[in-house]
Amino acid sequence: MKKAQLIIDKNFIVGEIDKRIYGSFLEHLGRAIYTGIYQPESPFSDENGFRQDVLNLVRETAVPVVRYPGGNFVSGYNWEDGIGPKELRPRRAELAWHSTETNQFGLDEFIDWCKAAGTEPMMAINLGTRVADEARNIVEYCNLEGGTYWSDLRIKNGHKEPHNVKLWCLGNEMDGDWQIGHKTSHEYGRAAHEAAKVMRWVSPDIELVACGSSNSGMSTFAQWEADVLDHCYHDVDYLSLHTYYNNSENNTEEFLCHSADMDSFIASVVSICDYVQAKKRSKKKIMLSFDEWNVWYHSHELDKLCKPWEEAPRKLEDVYNFEDALLVGSMLITLLRHADRVKIACLAQLVNVIAPIMTSDTGAWRQTIFFPYMQASVYGRGTALNTLIKSPIYESRKYGEVNLVDSIVIENDDENITVFAVNKDLKEDIELACDLRQYTDFEVKEHIVLTHDDMKAENTEANPNNVAPTYSNASKVEGGMFSAVLGKHSWNVIRLGKKR
Ligand code: AHR
Repeated sequence: MKKAQLIIDKNFIVGEIDKRIYGSFLEHLGRAIYTGIYQPESPFSDENGFRQDVLNLVRETAVPVVRYPGGNFVSGYNWEDGIGPKELRPRRAELAWHSTETNQFGLDEFIDWCKAAGTEPMMAINLGTRVADEARNIVEYCNLEGGTYWSDLRIKNGHKEPHNVKLWCLGNEMDGDWQIGHKTSHEYGRAAHEAAKVMRWVSPDIELVACGSSNSGMSTFAQWEADVLDHCYHDVDYLSLHTYYNNSENNTEEFLCHSADMDSFIASVVSICDYVQAKKRSKKKIMLSFDEWNVWYHSHELDKLCKPWEEAPRKLEDVYNFEDALLVGSMLITLLRHADRVKIACLAQLVNVIAPIMTSDTGAWRQTIFFPYMQASVYGRGTALNTLIKSPIYESRKYGEVNLVDSIVIENDDENITVFAVNKDLKEDIELACDLRQYTDFEVKEHIVLTHDDMKAENTEANPNNVAPTYSNASKVEGGMFSAVLGKHSWNVIRLGKKR
């Protein structure tokens, strides 16, 4: 059997894991909001119109933060359209996705939904068609106690207590020509600086995310980051990254290598942030917010069937297969391996739109990618150990030599550690070993596996449990030496703890 080895030392850490690395995203797009999380006419909904079947699955993921309301949508959005009496809210022609926005769900509903879901809001403001005026007003509406126009309006709208929104994105993908109000790096950097300034004057304790590039393939990538940070280094806390991968060429080995691209993307953005830090002779470090990441391509053809100005059209409804779940697992490991700098990350998105959770009128179900995402969020809290991997490799056309095993060890607390591991070998099992003698009297508590004979297997409404986790007994600790068999093409969560 092929062998791989992990080398760890409990004093040798990447960093504390910010739980917000397991965030997600809800955009006014397709059926994410309407018929996704909000459907007043559904028998599954409560008196607020919130789908309870969806909320149960969302709670299962323990998602700590949810970005809202976009995405491309936010760059043409007037948040004021979505507050106050529902019957007075305008129907708008929404230009980012060419659908009709009814505004029946807005800011206050989102905050209420976050409370019901046990998560925190991450609000994005519109820097496409608007700048400082909106920026200061929305923060005033959310975060001031009362006694001013916007905070009193929130109270009048039924929310006496401030929403206390801590985390704000300064626009979305402003480097992209597809964006409403697309800007050059200097135009955006200035706008972000001005917006950040007044937002902090209203609410000094907020945290701000500036837009990095929409993906590392943008022709302006790297220069964009450097220019933007030149303008607003002292104003912001995080710089964003976005990336989506696909297997359009139907080459699974190559597809599974994309986590190597994500890894070098993160390393490059860290270097640019630190270059600007050095240039500014600053003591402050900018952290990263990887606030859109996922696989996205299955729905491209179906999207073309949508008619303009539909309400809640079936857009971006990727049906994920098993190999997508493996890449998502590897991407989660990649984020964790950069836990010292990646403090926020959002699986894009959460419900119906390129999402782990799908709905129909008869229920909600988990897509394949739900499992690695949920398991990382639930079991991947604590400290990321610097995990050296000696793995058999394979040759990727695009990325050169790539490890067949992706893995990281997380120290959850003094008595528990978790190993996440993906075996990308499509033909052979791999034995994984690790010297765990620093963790006296530890034993394997459970070894969860996600695998399937068919790399293209999907979970659908008719067959929702086709791809589902199982348990393995192929891992053990003997004399402090840990070993586990990672089945061919598998995602593994191995939980170890002190013997009771
Ligand atoms: O998540 C779907 C879209 O992808 C978002 O609206 C946009 O920010 C990105 O291009």
